[in-house]
Amino acid sequence: MIVNPLRDPRDRRLPRVPDPCALVVFGITGDLARKKLLPAVYDLANRGLLPTNFALLGFARRDWGDTDFAELARDAARKAARTPWREEVWERLAGSVRFVQGSFDDDNAFDELAGALADLESSHGIGGNAAFYLSIPPSMFPVVLKQMERTGMAESTRDRWRRVVVEKPFGHDLTSSRELNELVDSVFSAEDVFRIDHYLGKETVQNLMALRFANTLFEPIWNGHHVDSVQITMAEDVGIGGRAGFYEKTGAARDVLQNHLLQLLALTAMEEPVEFSAEEIRTEKLKVLRAVSLPDDLRAAAIRGQYEQGWLAGQRADGYRQEEGVDPASKTETYAAVRLGVETRRWAGVPFYLRTGKRLPRRVTEIALVFKRAPHLPFADTDTEELGNNQLVVRVQPDEGVTLKFGSKVPGSVMEVRDVSMDFLYGEQFTEASPEAYERLLLDVLLGDATLFPRNAEVEASWAVIDPLEEFWASTTPYPYRAGEWGPRAADEMLAAEGRRWRRP
Ligand SMILES: NC(=O)c1ccc[n+]([C@@H]2O[C@H](COP(=O)([O-])OP(=O)(O)OC[C@H]3O[C@@H](n4cnc5c(N)ncnc54)[C@H](OP(=O)(O)O)[C@@H]3O)[C@@H](O)[C@H]2O)c1
Repeated sequence: MIVNPLRDPRDRRLPRVPDPCALVVFGITGDLARKKLLPAVYDLANRGLLPTNFALLGFARRDWGDTDFAELARDAARKAARTPWREEVWERLAGSVRFVQGSFDDDNAFDELAGALADLESSHGIGGNAAFYLSIPPSMFPVVLKQMERTGMAESTRDRWRRVVVEKPFGHDLTSSRELNELVDSVFSAEDVFRIDHYLGKETVQNLMALRFANTLFEPIWNGHHVDSVQITMAEDVGIGGRAGFYEKTGAARDVLQNHLLQLLALTAMEEPVEFSAEEIRTEKLKVLRAVSLPDDLRAAAIRGQYEQGWLAGQRADGYRQEEGVDPASKTETYAAVRLGVETRRWAGVPFYLRTGKRLPRRVTEIALVFKRAPHLPFADTDTEELGNNQLVVRVQPDEGVTLKFGSKVPGSVMEVRDVSMDFLYGEQFTEASPEAYERLLLDVLLGDATLFPRNAEVEASWAVIDPLEEFWASTTPYPYRAGEWGPRAADEMLAAEGRRWRRP
């Protein structure tokens, strides 16, 4: 065997622990920080994955001291931590927690933050390294970035790294995402920018790459010769949960299609990367996103919907327009489905159906490869009505796993063929529970591993797909569907017109 001298000789199975560093969270009192970020920090500490020299700094407007903040952080972590609660772990962490109060337009507050970071360098030995998490309203990104630039906080040097984490949405359309990218890239260097699409932190999404590139079984049939169509679904049973202000301006396509679904499409359709590295994986994903095509007739292949009052799990659910804070004449979509093409040799002619929606019958995210039917069935006198297309389904959540659906003989004296399923369930095969997506991604930020973070060109290529859809939809009214149904009838008709139907996961 020839050994590649460029390969890192370290044992990859050993957990990697980041350099001494600080994590600065702007918007620490917000929903995301409380529900996801603080619990993730605790879980990482509990798993021994944070460096000994670590500090957590929170920034928000509330008139708090370090003790108030430590209390909030403890409550939030305790409530949503994935791993068992150990008081001694929290006690250790609490000794390195700081709060800086101020508004984003307040120069003094940022000077104070820069000072606090400098103090921590000597008092906690963080070595000047810091990651800044923008867990704040997107409209605030420019002012915070400018402040970081002004105070010199954003500067990486030979002796220290400085990184920034940007939450979605990355802009509102192609133009605004370009502006945002330009701004971020003018303050931080490209390799120090981490754009979070938390779907990529999910274990099953990463398993998609293992499934494809670590096996010989699937790759030979992973193409338009064998695949009839691909369905990518992200369904939620919940409504907008008090986030009307955000959702009214956003809608399902900008909220989910532009990021999560197109990233899943890219991972499903991409070619094998030269190696499993950030650069190579992002390069392959980008090629797919640039190859995505929209149907010529959007009326027939781009459907959006809005839920009306209905029933879900035996409970009455309000319609979208009745939700608090929603315009009673709102045209914002809560459901979007579209047929896309991927113009490559591997996928030419294969439709990729993407759909997402709120108040659908159940919460499920999955990628389904629907295979072509056998060209000939030699069962002249056999009942094959129950025989569908073979399917390979990667379930991202819940019940993470993979299902293979194929035809099998029904036991008995007659020849009857019917679909059966073969299931792999993560929870059954592995004893180790999967880390939460934010846990994995926060650790990657601190390690400087950008593999699971889309780069700016990917974000822009995705907006280039969404912009024409939004433009077309701007002059239409979403089709209604009842809460608890699988979206509007028009979405079913879209597939039926092409001789297909949506999976009912
Ligand atoms: N929540 C989620 O589940 C979720 C999911 C995906 C992405 N995101 C993204 O994550 C980001 C944060 O979302 P969120 O839901 O946590 O928002 P949020 O609950 O509204 O929190 C916003 C935070 O920013 C602070 N803030 C706002 N204006 C400020 C100002 N002028 N000066 C200083 N602090 C200010 C607020 O603190 P004070 O009011 O105390 O000052 C609060 O801590 C957004 O970009 C969102 O799109 C959120």
